[in-house]
Amino acid sequence: MDRRMTVIDNDPMTRLFVGPRGGRISTAALRDASHWDEAVVDLGYEHRVRTVAEALRAARIPAFDTPGAVQPFTQQVLSHGRGLFGFGLITITWEPTACAGRPPAAQPLTALGRRPALEVKERNVVMSLETAPFAAEHASSDELRAWYELAVTSTAADYPSSPVPPYDSYVQQLRQSTSYLGLQRLWVARDSGRLIGTASAVFPTDENSERAIISVRVSAQYRRRGVGTRLLQTMLPEIHERGCRRIAGQTKASADGEKWTNALGFRAVAQRASHHLDIKSVDPARWQVPPTPGFRIQKWVDTAPDDLVQSFARARNAIADSPTGETSYRHPDWTAERVRQYETRMREIGETHRYVVAVDERSGAVAGFTEIAIIPRQSSFCHQEDTAVLPEFRGLGLGRAVKAAMMRWLTADLPHLEQVHTMTASDNLHMIRVNAPLGYVTDHVVSSVESEVGALEARLAGLRPRS
Ligand SMILES: CC(C)(COP(=O)(O)OP(=O)(O)OC[C@H]1O[C@@H](n2cnc3c(N)ncnc32)[C@H](O)[C@@H]1OP(=O)(O)O)[C@@H](O)C(=O)NCCC(=O)NCCS
Repeated sequence: MDRRMTVIDNDPMTRLFVGPRGGRISTAALRDASHWDEAVVDLGYEHRVRTVAEALRAARIPAFDTPGAVQPFTQQVLSHGRGLFGFGLITITWEPTACAGRPPAAQPLTALGRRPALEVKERNVVMSLETAPFAAEHASSDELRAWYELAVTSTAADYPSSPVPPYDSYVQQLRQSTSYLGLQRLWVARDSGRLIGTASAVFPTDENSERAIISVRVSAQYRRRGVGTRLLQTMLPEIHERGCRRIAGQTKASADGEKWTNALGFRAVAQRASHHLDIKSVDPARWQVPPTPGFRIQKWVDTAPDDLVQSFARARNAIADSPTGETSYRHPDWTAERVRQYETRMREIGETHRYVVAVDERSGAVAGFTEIAIIPRQSSFCHQEDTAVLPEFRGLGLGRAVKAAMMRWLTADLPHLEQVHTMTASDNLHMIRVNAPLGYVTDHVVSSVESEVGALEARLAGLRPRS
């Protein structure tokens, strides 16, 4: 969108987007090319299936080809229907055969030199590029500030509705050599000493120890100059030495990150929707869900009661039924001992976790649960973690009951809390159906991407540095 605004020089009289033959985009063309109806159903809004014209009117966009912001609902469906948004509008080519919701095939590395049809960046800038490991615990406050600002700016550009973590809490996490998953390593890219890119890799110690989870960011004005790729090349030897077979990451669907990972041969393996609940804008009556007969609601902070920990561990394993697409991620094998280890780890990193469970009154065992993480110094928002109901108790309303009880609890004693954030697999219709009536709305779709380490090394080995 930004690029198109730049190209048309912000002229309000110029069409922002044009159709296949250079003219106005008809709503029928938009519906067909974006697979609108399928995308709406896919996102769990089947009750909102209607014509594109109606949806655009509802979003107060009189015609899609006039300059103006695309409203969240429309944007969400369009970014899901990537045939249009990713390849049709941004690059101004028209590929109506591209299928909504299905990621474009990974491009071979030979595509690296290819230019998209629409190119607005200036690339002939001399850089003195250096990439190096970053020891956050010894870093100067200027460098920590530069890292934080890059992270905040890049996140705000891709995920405008995401909350901004306060500096202190962000830097505290950055300085920890282990995240809650495992060892964390950091790298930076600098141009003549100025920090222009950041990268991290986390090495899980559990059943996912074959995977390195990476995050790479390049400041907007330095993109498409090989900085991200150079950072990845710098990280790879350590990832290899630690015995990882796969590299996994996340990017906003259709954004720079996904184009980059596509170009480097990563595969999109799953799509997840980010949802949030805005406490002030939701009628609390939505959380007055009556308990399911035969089950009682119980809650605790941080430490599961001894008499429930065994059955709670069993209920935690029900999360393994949530769809994970084609990711290589392995769900944890929860035991009472592992629950206790997790609780200890969360306490060590300063997070408070609240749990609401539904207990089957006949057996006294946990049938379903939901978990919220509250991060230190982030009082205005919290994170919805796992919610799961054991298979034999599904369809009884327990998922909604525990989440509604959690909302009543959070709003009763956390007056500064404004939002709850969560991620759900885009095809997890059951979870989406639990969330929507409670007041959650969808913000954006995130792609999980993966590559085999060996294949990535081979692909990157042939690349010459650009500066
Ligand atoms: C993803 C990101 C790190 C890429 O950094 P970068 O330095 O701009 O990437 P590179 O210059 O190394 O790109 C290498 C190739 O990837 C492809 N590519 C990268 N960005 C692209 C884009 N916006 N559109 C199309 N292709 C793109 C191109 O083929 C490019 O080679 P070329 O410029 O010679 O055509 C950067 O866009 C970013 O910080 N995004 C936000 C964070 C994110 O999503 N990270 C990825 C998940 S870990």
